[in-house]
Amino acid sequence: MSDIPSANPEQHQYWNETAGPKWAQLSDVIDTQIAPLGGEAMDRIGVGAGQRVLDVGCGCGQTTLELARRVGAEGAVLGADISRPMLESARDRALEAGLRNARFEHSDAQVHPFEAEAFDLVFSRFGVMFFSDPVAAFANLLRALRPGARLGFVCWQALAQNAWMLRPMAAVAPLLSLQPPSDPHAPGPFAFADADRVTRILRDAGFGSVAVEGMERELLVGGGASLDDTVGFLLQMGPAGAALREAAEDVRNKAAAAVRDAIAPFETEVGVRMPAAAWLFQATRPA
Ligand SMILES: C[S@@+](CC[C@H](N)C(=O)[O-])C[C@H]1O[C@@H](n2cnc3c(N)ncnc32)[C@H](O)[C@@H]1O
Repeated sequence: MSDIPSANPEQHQYWNETAGPKWAQLSDVIDTQIAPLGGEAMDRIGVGAGQRVLDVGCGCGQTTLELARRVGAEGAVLGADISRPMLESARDRALEAGLRNARFEHSDAQVHPFEAEAFDLVFSRFGVMFFSDPVAAFANLLRALRPGARLGFVCWQALAQNAWMLRPMAAVAPLLSLQPPSDPHAPGPFAFADADRVTRILRDAGFGSVAVEGMERELLVGGGASLDDTVGFLLQMGPAGAALREAAEDVRNKAAAAVRDAIAPFETEVGVRMPAAAWLFQATRPA
């Protein structure tokens, strides 16, 4: 049962009970790994001093705090997320950083009644691929933007383009009998892999001037940790991580060896660097 009005009970459960506590525990490593993609997205979108920004699916808040620094004391950022444990971590980080222009709200962004026309920018780093009804969700986010203001977010391209996830998943799949989702558009990290579909979703939600560009980069998987620590990190993430927590010790050992073999070719002096590919979408609420 969801403790907030939600159209996404399965995601609510997943991000509060399964993935959220893990993300909160590993947030420093995750942020080191994906911060370059979020930072570059902010650079390209252009975040101005004094702006009011909504950070959708803000998780443990690294982007919310970065946005708060960029908009400065005259601006304000609201981080919205469906996961209570991740928001707790975000609030702690904001306190620690002394950033008073960032606040957080526990909400399902698909249905939450955000203040109408209150934001100059809706931003997200990998937080918008989990809606049961993406058109309804983006129409809801559009209402929160002032007319003429922008939406900008990053989402993953297909798994095949993301060796940093494909290789570990392929390595453990035979041990855990993991099946790919039967619906490739079902809420999940790769739901927005088809850029044409996402463009249609944004247009159907009422956005104009929809533009997409590819961001193909190498990521420092595990945030620059040793090969063995990076294996340990990967084994805790995603559906495979959840399945492995329930698995017998010999299966976990076999999985660790298989993932180590799969990522060892990418070890460098500064850590494990692997190919990743995201889309950067930008769109405007028509004036
Ligand atoms: C892949 S994580 C990304 C977190 C964060 N943006 C980052 O880059 O570290 C996806 C986030 O979206 C949040 N989320 C999923 N569905 C949501 C919804 N309907 N409303 C608000 N947040 C949602 C999850 O709780 C999670 O924090």
